[in-house]
Amino acid sequence: MLEVSALSKHYGGVKATDQVNLNVKAGECHAIIGPNGAGKTTLIGQLCGELLSDAGVIFFQGRNVTGLPMHRRVQLGLARSFQITSVFDDMTVLANVAVAVQANRGHSFRFWRPVSRNESINARALEVLRLVGMEVQHQQLAGALSHGERRQLEIAMALATEPQLLLLDEPMAGMGAEESNAMLAMLQALKGDITLLLVEHDMDVVFSLADTISVLVYGQVIETGSPAQIRNSATVREAYLGDAG
Ligand SMILES: Nc1ncnc2c1ncn2[C@@H]1O[C@H](COP(=O)(O)OP(=O)(O)OP(=O)(O)O)[C@@H](O)[C@H]1O
Ligand SMILES: [Mg+2]
Repeated sequence: MLEVSALSKHYGGVKATDQVNLNVKAGECHAIIGPNGAGKTTLIGQLCGELLSDAGVIFFQGRNVTGLPMHRRVQLGLARSFQITSVFDDMTVLANVAVAVQANRGHSFRFWRPVSRNESINARALEVLRLVGMEVQHQQLAGALSHGERRQLEIAMALATEPQLLLLDEPMAGMGAEESNAMLAMLQALKGDITLLLVEHDMDVVFSLADTISVLVYGQVIETGSPAQIRNSATVREAYLGDAG
């Protein structure tokens, strides 16, 4: 699904990512963990096209996407949550997702379009909301959502672009226990239908979701393996898990 070789991004003297090699298989949930400042967010930015890389190559489904702009990567099925569309607070949850569905179909949302046309878009939008467990909130104004629901809506809007690979950077950030559990259940349900590349600090989440884990330290992948392999890796323990207890 995704093959990354020697990908680097430097900020002045800081090697945010330094020759990253990464291989994400179709259908898996691949987690990236690492200490603060390890380069996780930079890597996600490089993969989705928000940041251009200084060196290295990114192959997505056999295609070299290294130099492609973000919207082209989205069209090819590589999307990051909350990258393309922002949430409109004064619109309903359904209308927000409908805009994303419509944008993906290559038109702008037009309220004066024949009802039947908007109906097919709304039907698809409802389907996507069902995927993230937000069907019951579809008529609520986005501005009235809780923090956790808003993050779920952002994921719904990314899913509306029908990605094959979804990039998520700390989807649980800032959430309470209940919201985290809802997000975890949602990701668990998505898993299998779509390939996930997940950056997350919460180790319970990582170890319950991931099929493969890559450990990033100082911009470099120091280890990749199954959750059990990562848990038992002396290298990882020393470099990272050790100081987390
Ligand atoms: N725009 C920027 N300009 C300069 N330095 C940057 C920039 N973005 C990131 N960095 C630096 O690059 C390194 C990697 O940052 P990055 O945000 O990718 O880490 P991270 O693994 O996502 O950290 P966290 O776990 O805290 O989210 C850090 O040293 C950071 O200070
Ligand atoms: Mg980060």
